[in-house]
Amino acid sequence: MATFNKILLTGINGQVGHALYPKLQSLGEVIALGRDQLDLSKPDHIRDIVRTIKPDLIVNPAAYTAVDKAESEPELAHAINGIAPGILAEEAKKLNALLVHYSTDYVFDGTKTTPYIETDEPNPINVYGASKLAGEKAIQAIAGQHLIFRTSWVYGAYGRNFMRTILKLAQENKSLRIISDQFGAPTASSSIAEYTTKILRQWHTGHQHGIYHFVNEGHTTWFEFAKEILNLYFEFPAHPSPPHASTSKEVIGISAKEYTTTAKRPSNSTLSTFKIYTDFRLTLPKWQDALRKEIELCRSMTR
Ligand SMILES: NC(=O)c1ccc[n+]([C@@H]2O[C@H](COP(=O)([O-])OP(=O)(O)OC[C@H]3O[C@@H](n4cnc5c(N)ncnc54)[C@H](OP(=O)(O)O)[C@@H]3O)[C@@H](O)[C@H]2O)c1
Repeated sequence: MATFNKILLTGINGQVGHALYPKLQSLGEVIALGRDQLDLSKPDHIRDIVRTIKPDLIVNPAAYTAVDKAESEPELAHAINGIAPGILAEEAKKLNALLVHYSTDYVFDGTKTTPYIETDEPNPINVYGASKLAGEKAIQAIAGQHLIFRTSWVYGAYGRNFMRTILKLAQENKSLRIISDQFGAPTASSSIAEYTTKILRQWHTGHQHGIYHFVNEGHTTWFEFAKEILNLYFEFPAHPSPPHASTSKEVIGISAKEYTTTAKRPSNSTLSTFKIYTDFRLTLPKWQDALRKEIELCRSMTR
């Protein structure tokens, strides 16, 4: 079993960082930093921190994740998502450390009609996707030991995400209008943390590295995802009745054209997970099973 002396974890206050923190502790000492302690928009600061800590594993879930806002802040998005990962890779290589980085389904344009595989040509259609693709390329150019996990539609009981937004809206609105013609895989932050740790446990120097599609199994639309969130949340009889308890009947499917956003999104960003299964013999849980767990956690937090 692989263990590490010092693990540097970025983005501790984000969804994935928060979920990773307790899991990574089973692999070694974790130094977890938020934006206040490690600002990825400042290259010299990144170098100083890594050189001081001297980790043998860097796990980087921190990112500029505001997809729409990125359209008006391309430089900042590029600094955090495009340049910083390359600096982390450079510093990791000097220390002979492994870099684990997260990327996105939004590197693809969504025109493929079947799930994307790792060797498919990326063609981002928004600033965020382009900045994340630049980060992947920067890491690959350094050619140190790295794992890049492309994930999608991340949610969980903690943080800002679609699941929590739907639950909040369900208490405020009688009906929800949700896009029904964009396809992807909702992926729980807890699954990302658990399976990252499983992979790291079996990882050794010289092991497979590169890009992996890393999502909960199956795929759906935002509309079906919203319905499942509400079905699961409100199916428990013990739940205290909210004032305007929404049901799946009150979710209305609309087309992406009817819901204008600043950034364009791919209509199909489903990712094939065949490679991760082949290399690590691991398959992340089905998205519905992962969702049930997150819903239960969410409910226990509001009791
Ligand atoms: N969320 C999704 O749906 C999604 C989909 C596909 C891929 N991904 C990828 O998955 C990874 C994890 O995403 P997530 O959902 O955990 O994101 P998240 O909840 O938005 O967390 C991102 C974290 O990055 C931090 N951050 C932002 N700017 C920073 C800076 N300049 N320096 C240091 N830290 C900074 C944020 O700090 P503050 O807390 O201070 O804001 C936040 O804690 C990211 O690489 C993301 O691109 C996410």
